[in-house]
Amino acid sequence: MNRLDVIQALMRQKKLKNYLEIGVENGHIFFRIKSTFKIAVDPTFIFDITRRLGKVIINPYNLNNQYFEKTSDEFFERDAQQAFSARKIQLALIDGMHEYRFALRDVENTLRYMDDDGVIIMHDCNPQTVGAAGRFDDWETGEWNGDVWRTIIHLRSQRPDLNVFVLDCDQGLGIVTRQKPESALDFTPSQIDALTYDELVLNRKKWLNLKPEAYFYDHFGLSK
Ligand SMILES: C[S@@+](CC[C@H](N)C(=O)[O-])C[C@H]1O[C@@H](n2cnc3c(N)ncnc32)[C@H](O)[C@@H]1O
Repeated sequence: MNRLDVIQALMRQKKLKNYLEIGVENGHIFFRIKSTFKIAVDPTFIFDITRRLGKVIINPYNLNNQYFEKTSDEFFERDAQQAFSARKIQLALIDGMHEYRFALRDVENTLRYMDDDGVIIMHDCNPQTVGAAGRFDDWETGEWNGDVWRTIIHLRSQRPDLNVFVLDCDQGLGIVTRQKPESALDFTPSQIDALTYDELVLNRKKWLNLKPEAYFYDHFGLSK
């Protein structure tokens, strides 16, 4: 199971349609989504107008796409109010700058415009090596997930209004909904800053509220 399977299952079976993707890159996921309301945000899209038009032919839903070639912070500061004036977000994939506070701002800003029963999916929450799990400036080579795992710990510690778990697939898919949390942590932001990858390894299941793929279907009452 990957992020596309999760998004498509929620769209088909929960009828969640209005879609925001932060961090779109070449549109590998974005262009496949079947929704008449799709917003793409990325400071550097890896596609041109020709590819956009080609994607309309393959998936006609792409005709109505709205593109914002800028950082998510700039988007939320300048464009979000207008973009979501008529329709709220029902599904968001947060996959932009993979650092603790960037991802946290993306979640907090997304929530300001999200329906009560909307779902946020966060990519790269479960890094498997110390090299993949750090801040961008410390990254040297190979896989990089960043420290979005700290964002998960933050949300589980500081937001009693949100239920947060991580599916153990596709580099760790964080799932955030407005619900009473199943369980909570009690870290402060400065404690979260000081956590190490070794500590994450020892506490991975508890801190990330890590769940097997099957949990996703049970939790949302979906069929496979
Ligand atoms: C891993 S890629 C996204 C992949 C895409 N979501 C997918 O599933 O195929 C990360 C993207 O985040 C973008 N990005 C980096 N900083 C960003 C920011 N501050 N705001 C929004 N997007 C950002 C990068 O330009 C890059 O295209």
